Amino acid sequence: MFDALVLDRTDGDLTVGVRQLSSDDLPDAGPDEVHLQVLYSSLNYKDALAVTGAGKIVRGGYPIVPGIDLVGQVVESNIDILEAGDYAIGTGWQLGEVDWGGYGQHAKVDGNKLVRLPKYLTPKQSMVAGTAGFTAMLSVMALEEHEVTPEDGDVVVTGASGGVGSMVVTLLDALDYDVVASSGSEEAYDYLRERGATRIISRSALENGPDRPIETGKWAGAVDAVGGDTLATLLAQLKRHGSAASFGNAAGHELSTSVFPLILRGVNLLGIDSNTCPTPKRQVAWRRLASILDDEDFEEMTRQTIGLDEVPAASKELINEGVRGRIVVDVQA
Ligand SMILES: NC(=O)c1ccc[n+]([C@@H]2O[C@H](COP(=O)([O-])OP(=O)(O)OC[C@H]3O[C@@H](n4cnc5c(N)ncnc54)[C@H](OP(=O)(O)O)[C@@H]3O)[C@@H](O)[C@H]2O)c1
Repeated sequence: MFDALVLDRTDGDLTVGVRQLSSDDLPDAGPDEVHLQVLYSSLNYKDALAVTGAGKIVRGGYPIVPGIDLVGQVVESNIDILEAGDYAIGTGWQLGEVDWGGYGQHAKVDGNKLVRLPKYLTPKQSMVAGTAGFTAMLSVMALEEHEVTPEDGDVVVTGASGGVGSMVVTLLDALDYDVVASSGSEEAYDYLRERGATRIISRSALENGPDRPIETGKWAGAVDAVGGDTLATLLAQLKRHGSAASFGNAAGHELSTSVFPLILRGVNLLGIDSNTCPTPKRQVAWRRLASILDDEDFEEMTRQTIGLDEVPAASKELINEGVRGRIVVDVQA
């Protein structure tokens, strides 16, 4: 028997609490199933929406063990690349939304959705990063793949104080880019400077859309959490052959722009989807994260470590007040 946080719906009411389960209670994960003893998970905004019922995150029916991220030790494996005793990471890809996720001491996961824990990353550090760090790394890799180098000039990051945005700032700084953080949270400015921002601009400087289809080129690259008119502004302000990686829609999902930045300046709009990122690229991204960030970065990014029973209260706090830094769930505590 083991502990798991179970989200259930009875008579239309959402209930959440720690229950005792046995491994027979875990849904079958298919022919390539890997059974993990889960060590850590993390609390993301998406998890908080699921746990509080504030957002429609659960798509696979109830009951469900939420948690979109997990790291654990393999107990039993039906795939060749992972064997008992190995450590593996799972993020997104329906975990905690359709499939049972990381808020249980044991989980059965489709092994094709797991990656091996990189050598220089502890299980806990992998969950300090979690989906936020992984998405941030994919965004930075997208700029690198499109030849945005530190020598090309400033890279702007929007929604910079957010979970993903602040990771992007940290990674770009560690890779010697000059990072301009765009943020609407003045109280986060010091934090952003500590994370490595060389300059900070207000959210309002970018959020109204461009005055002209092509403006003065300011940015060698951009990483955008916001979408909408902010992304339209970034596209108009990218330098020749610059690139913008779009991963979020904090301000809206619509994008009204023109093709001129693309066809007259050769700029690139790069989509980032951490959920469905293919496994080989996942493995590369996790290795890169492990090589770029050091122990101090992980310490500084950790806001708190909580147990399974503390997840419901922490979820409410995350939704109502927002939190800076990452919340790690010590599943075995
Ligand atoms: N594509 C993927 O794979 C992927 C993965 C994870 C998350 N996401 C998406 O990425 C976005 C950010 O995720 P996150 O976890 O970093 O969220 P988060 O921690 O809530 O951060 C979002 C940030 O965006 C800014 N913001 C919030 N509301 C805004 C508004 N109305 N207009 C402009 N800026 C606003 C804020 O930063 P400032 O106060 O500093 O401006 C906020 O901290 C979300 O849309 C999320 O769904 C996508």
